[in-house]
Amino acid sequence: MFKTKITKMLGIEHPIIGGTMMWLATPEFVAAISNAGALGIIASAMFSEKEEFRKAVKKIKSLTSKPFAINLNLFPSLRAIPNEDFITVIIEEGIKVVETSGHKAPEEYIDRLKKAGVVVIHKCVGVRYAKKAESLGVDAITVVGFENGGATGILDTGTMVLVPRVVEEVKVPVIGGGGAVDGRGFLAVLALGAEGVIMGTRMLMTEECPIHQRVKEALLKATELDTRLIMRSIESTHRVWFNAAARRVLELEAQQAGLPDIVSMAAGDKAKKMYETGDIDLGTIACSQGIGMIRSVKPVAEVIKDILAQAEQIRQRIKNM
Ligand SMILES: Cc1cc2nc3c(=O)[nH]c(=O)nc-3n(C[C@H](O)[C@H](O)[C@H](O)COP(=O)(O)O)c2cc1C
Repeated sequence: MFKTKITKMLGIEHPIIGGTMMWLATPEFVAAISNAGALGIIASAMFSEKEEFRKAVKKIKSLTSKPFAINLNLFPSLRAIPNEDFITVIIEEGIKVVETSGHKAPEEYIDRLKKAGVVVIHKCVGVRYAKKAESLGVDAITVVGFENGGATGILDTGTMVLVPRVVEEVKVPVIGGGGAVDGRGFLAVLALGAEGVIMGTRMLMTEECPIHQRVKEALLKATELDTRLIMRSIESTHRVWFNAAARRVLELEAQQAGLPDIVSMAAGDKAKKMYETGDIDLGTIACSQGIGMIRSVKPVAEVIKDILAQAEQIRQRIKNM
């Protein structure tokens, strides 16, 4: 058992955070992660208005009595995202934990959230962003190293260096990740000084994750070499699985195409369609280098059980060294 400042702060059983996943964080999937003793997070940006969002929050509440969190999107977006309305719902529904992530710190929202007693975690990719968020009063920082699936930012710092550097620089508890997909990565991130471990790509490859089976099967064959950074030319670097859609985005970038063309190729609607139809070349999908170590799709609870068992074995092995 691993009890840490993060398990205590969030009221969760295991120090594992299921990474926010745009378009995939359905109430059922989020609840499955929370029910397995980790923290499930729903992406509020999946919704365009507050009552639709409230319905999803209520649905999660009906599926789990365990803590779950809401992600507020601070990335630039083509759509207007009504974060203030979402915060109203968060407060009215008594949600205890919010994760913010994006290109800026949660300056606009922190006061309202803190006044309502919400625990705020800010996710970022560098020491300077972590320090900024801490100075605003967040309760914890999540940092994801360069191996991670999804937004990687511009600082390109790997997990092995980023996690301990952030732990050195901030006083609040740190959740680390980026490439952690099993008990080895889990224990390593804790060894680097983190109090919790975030896993996105590992949760993507679970039975409850609502992507088409064909996408999961294709990703099972991927190795650690099968991801690419896309959208760097438009300052929105993301690590994704290297499929035909990612190749098309990179070709557009090489041709110095404009933002609308690049964004439309990497857009969420194409990804959504790919998740639903199983057309594996249609859209881009965030994916960690850690994909190379994922060899099976299992129920979330089993994945978490395996992670903890493997971590415990390694703990013993190291103790006996
Ligand atoms: C399919 C997918 C979608 C994601 N969508 C989001 C998102 O909408 N917002 C966000 O902050 N992070 C998003 N992420 C990043 C994860 O929340 C998490 O930070 C990351 O996956 C951790 O690194 P790992 O993939 O190496 O475990 C996504 C990741 C994946 C795999």
